[in-house]
Amino acid sequence: MLSSMLNIVVMVSGSGTNLQAVIDGIREGRIRNTRITGVISNNSNAYALVRAEKCGIPAICIAPKDYGSREEFHRALCVRMDELNPDLVVLAGFLVKIPPAMIAQYRGRMINIHPSLIPSFCGVGCYGLKVHEQALERGVKITGATVHYVDEGMDTGPILLQKAVPVQDGDTPESLQRRVMEEAEWILLPQAIDMLAMRNK
Ligand code: GRF
Repeated sequence: MLSSMLNIVVMVSGSGTNLQAVIDGIREGRIRNTRITGVISNNSNAYALVRAEKCGIPAICIAPKDYGSREEFHRALCVRMDELNPDLVVLAGFLVKIPPAMIAQYRGRMINIHPSLIPSFCGVGCYGLKVHEQALERGVKITGATVHYVDEGMDTGPILLQKAVPVQDGDTPESLQRRVMEEAEWILLPQAIDMLAMRNK
């Protein structure tokens, strides 16, 4: 049963600027009806964990290297997720493959943000700066970000929202990455969560 308040868990691996956009969106009322009940990182050094702790959000690291096998790691992730029992799982720069059991359990209730207009510049191995390197190499004039539901494939699930961002002359992968974050990702992810939270009401 969904509660009227949307409880979300955010999964992260790195700096957590998208997590910050969600935290700020909730605080500023752009994301309504939502609370973050947990943050899970696969990386103990992720600054995202600090961002969560600063806001009093329960944050834990579950790292593959701390487990004897992939299966044990997957089990630990699933156990923690079951404890948190969210209405929605938000992958915000989470770089580890999600256990198939978790994908099945959260089908239609797990979203990811990707820094391109899917189906361009996505799929296996296309993450982080590589996305923007490939966009510049191909010479596209417009790129952007996509929020999509997670399925068994890599960036293949149903698309929820997209936002376009112009490529500028002289862009480097770094400058393009920054513009896509500022003009698309940090706006789009809060919008998607708000939309789902208002549907859930
Ligand atoms: C973002 O570009 C996101 O689209 C991608 O990973 C990056 C995470 O950045 N999936 P951050 O940790 O939110 O700063």
